[in-house]
Amino acid sequence: MKRILDLAEVGAIPHGGCARLALTDDDRAGRDLVVSWMKELGLEVTIDKVGNVVGTWQIGEGSPVMTGSHIDTVRTGGKYDGNLGVLAGLEVIQTLQESGNAPSRPIAVAFFTNEEGARFAPDMLGSLVYVGGMSVEAALETVSIDGKNFGEELREIGYAGPVPCPGPAPHAFVELHIEQGPVLEAEGITIGCVDGVQGISWTEVEISGQSNHAGTTPMSMRHDPAYVAARITVFLRELAAEMGHPQVCTVGKIDLHPNLINVVAARATMTVDVRNTDEALLREAEQRIDTFLDRLKAEEGVTISKRKLARFEPVQFDPRVIELIDECAADMGLTRKRMPSGAGHDAQMLARVCPTAMIFVPSVRGISHNPAEFTAEEDLIVGSNLLLRVMQRLAAMSFEKVSS
Ligand code: GLV
Ligand code: MN
Ligand code: MN
Repeated sequence: MKRILDLAEVGAIPHGGCARLALTDDDRAGRDLVVSWMKELGLEVTIDKVGNVVGTWQIGEGSPVMTGSHIDTVRTGGKYDGNLGVLAGLEVIQTLQESGNAPSRPIAVAFFTNEEGARFAPDMLGSLVYVGGMSVEAALETVSIDGKNFGEELREIGYAGPVPCPGPAPHAFVELHIEQGPVLEAEGITIGCVDGVQGISWTEVEISGQSNHAGTTPMSMRHDPAYVAARITVFLRELAAEMGHPQVCTVGKIDLHPNLINVVAARATMTVDVRNTDEALLREAEQRIDTFLDRLKAEEGVTISKRKLARFEPVQFDPRVIELIDECAADMGLTRKRMPSGAGHDAQMLARVCPTAMIFVPSVRGISHNPAEFTAEEDLIVGSNLLLRVMQRLAAMSFEKVSS
């Protein structure tokens, strides 16, 4: 708990939140603090070419059982998103060390660069590169929402490390995270045994029209990007309602240019975040949005260009790891349920290279990406103890290679 509160002091914002956007000075300060804790525990710390940091307790034989998450936040983040998974990993190692319970394999804790994707797209960028899903070169060329180059920003904060990517596949990966949704609390359940992550589609949409005088331009003669952006926002809401659960659509960002009271906008740049646990339904949603954009172009006499920022298919976690989490939670007498994750996580990338699953603990009122994000201390502790048990068991498990 002390580490969670101390890390939350770095980049603290009003009402108890954190702003540590990836590769900013506050991200650097957070990284330095967590690395100092890794070193206090005697971990071997490596930094790779995109700034992913892995602290390994070199003990036992073979590839490590890995846990971890991220310590970057959105600009209006809370204390727990990502941070819990990293700091609980340190706590697992410290507890095993102090109790003299040496595992038969190394134990590693990672924090991956730019999980949030709030400053650089795509989200989960660091873990994606770690598993070989994106090249280091492409990652370093990524441009932030404030026009900065990923590679330069990484060097600037001193985390352009020497270790090549992709990184070595762990024996297994398990990530503890707050749910960030309302389900566990609403159902009075302590543990989510996360069986997968929904698919994510992120697009930047730019609408260009005719900027003009707000008083003199007849309504019938306008080509107004602000109006078109509003139509798109309403369409997405209605599309999600029509397709029903679990389809979700969000417009999180709209920028108007020149953004003045008496000027019909020249341009609107907006983001579209579309998610579904079912790939076919996600594609259907994407297609229906494309068709609607074509219709708007014709109706409103604007041009619309699209840029894909992220696209990840839904991910199923490894049934053996999900089952193990369930079993360990049962042994601890905890209430639990299988559930998909609505948010993206580094675990969904690690699932490409090793047996992986996640543990969720409840989020009060389901609030996240908000300073008010809160999980009760007892749930953080119970989740961390479950993580400990699961990691101990994973160290002792052997996973048959499934031939493809
Ligand atoms: C990452 O936090 C996401 O947007 O799911
Ligand atoms: Mn997170
Ligand atoms: Mn997040």
